[in-house]
Amino acid sequence: MSILKIARMGHPVLLRKCQPVADPGAPEIRRLAADMIETMEDAPGVGLAAPQVYQPLRLFVFRVPGGRATRDPDDTETTTTVLINPMVELLGEERVLGWEGCLSIPDLRAAVPRAARIRYSGVDCDGNVIEREASGFHARVVQHEYDHLDGILYTMRMTDFRYFGFTEELNRAEAAQGH
Ligand code: NI
Repeated sequence: MSILKIARMGHPVLLRKCQPVADPGAPEIRRLAADMIETMEDAPGVGLAAPQVYQPLRLFVFRVPGGRATRDPDDTETTTTVLINPMVELLGEERVLGWEGCLSIPDLRAAVPRAARIRYSGVDCDGNVIEREASGFHARVVQHEYDHLDGILYTMRMTDFRYFGFTEELNRAEAAQGH
């Protein structure tokens, strides 16, 4: 396995609509997924989509670490998941603002509105069908990564630019407020 170079905002590969993966079990797809997991963990990040490593394919990897899951029962800790040719359905009208970052937009964070609940599905490299409902941070990560497959970055979803800043400054401000 190897750590891949991550495309940064401004590179056109991040704005492309990605193509479906023809054969999820193909050796090159398994290799890509394994390398993407290693790259995500090394960064470290909680999600990485194929276009972020210059592959315009409908595939992403993600994880929901225990510390990030809220008390919502659907917002469970999720072991590292490979999702190929995914579908995402937004459930209900509720939208929530939450902080996001992106490995393609280093050092910055913003509050972005996302659907509170989703249903998503896809397959893994062994052809297993994955179908889950999610909310909270879990739902947010999946919506963020899915957007990458359609060439959409979180900055395109922002509604209030006051909640956009450098992670370092935002953390400092948060600490000063005693949170
Ligand atoms: Ni991202």
